[in-house]
Amino acid sequence: MLKDKFGRTINYLRLAVVDRCNLRCTYCMPENGLSWIKQEELMTDEEMLRICSVFTELGVNKIRITGGEPFVRKNSIDLIEKISRLEGLSDLSLTTNGLLTKPYIPQLREFGIKSVNLSLDTLDEERFFKITRRKGYHKVIKTLESLIEHDIKVKINTVVMENQNIEDIIPLVMLTKSLPVDVRFIEEMPFNGNDKDILLNWNHSKIYQHIREHFPDIQKLADPKSSTSYNYKIPGFMGEVGIIAAYTRSFCGDCNRIRITPTGMLRSCLYESGGVNLKDEIRAGKTNEELKNTIISTIHHKPKDGWEAQQSGLNAAQIHQSMATIGG
Ligand code: GTP
Ligand code: 5AD
Ligand code: SF4
Repeated sequence: MLKDKFGRTINYLRLAVVDRCNLRCTYCMPENGLSWIKQEELMTDEEMLRICSVFTELGVNKIRITGGEPFVRKNSIDLIEKISRLEGLSDLSLTTNGLLTKPYIPQLREFGIKSVNLSLDTLDEERFFKITRRKGYHKVIKTLESLIEHDIKVKINTVVMENQNIEDIIPLVMLTKSLPVDVRFIEEMPFNGNDKDILLNWNHSKIYQHIREHFPDIQKLADPKSSTSYNYKIPGFMGEVGIIAAYTRSFCGDCNRIRITPTGMLRSCLYESGGVNLKDEIRAGKTNEELKNTIISTIHHKPKDGWEAQQSGLNAAQIHQSMATIGG
């Protein structure tokens, strides 16, 4: 089992398979001027699979495929299938914007994927275009419907933004009434590539108060250890409501996760820059045992509280070009 020096068990790997995306969400990346990773810098499928298998041998049992948008990577479905066959993996899931996802849903189901996190900030086509700067709202809704039909658990991720999607909060909560989906409202985090000033008026307690005004009987649920969200339920509704205090709260105490970027950087913390590049180690001919030693030592040195450190100095905004470059 992988443990860091503070005794935290690391069993959850977030693998960003690509930095590119077919949307341009204003809170994530600018419209222009992004420097995409060059093909030769991107890990190959074989490299990604090898890294995942080394991690599962070390005790990681949960892998989340992220991006960018995972389905923008060529043949990512083949990579997902190969990862799904790794021994020791009990939970394979993905975070997607839903634009290209629908045709792959039957296969995802075959590969044993039980849950998908779907990014969707609004239920209005025009606001969708304003927020993502691209068309595609109806495709995302079709993906949502198909995921439900295929009995795949869906968590909708909604970033809450002043002047942009406040009117969507209650309609999104209403989705949980008759559909078996969870909706999680996320505080907007500042990033270098955010193409705007952030008005963090909508922190987790304001989001909660807003929902409670409409649903006074909302109930708090127990939050599983290492959960990113505070969880709630409205009595009689099928799905749950979550609030992710991505900006104002430290997740570090119970952190169980580690990240791999599309170029192979191993990041033991969201708020970290630099680090070891596993792809370079593979290309330099390192054995799996050597890779394992690198991983064990990086995890040993995982910072105690990256969130706290960034409060007083460099923050994620200064470190990363966009959320997509670190896999969300
Ligand atoms: P589950 O496996 O369903 O718990 O997924 P998740 O919430 O870990 O992942 P998802 O990709 O759906 O991300 C949801 C939101 O949580 C996004 O806004 C992420 O940026 C944010 N998030 C994920 N991990 C961290 C973290 O370590 N720290 C902070 N501050 N935010 C995070
Ligand atoms: N703040 C909060 N959440 C963000 N995401 C992307 N950028 C940000 C940001 N600046 C979310 C997306 C996606 C998840 C992986 O990260 O909505 O659902
Ligand atoms: Fe793409 Fe997700 Fe970033 Fe939106 S938030 S631009 S869907 S990677």
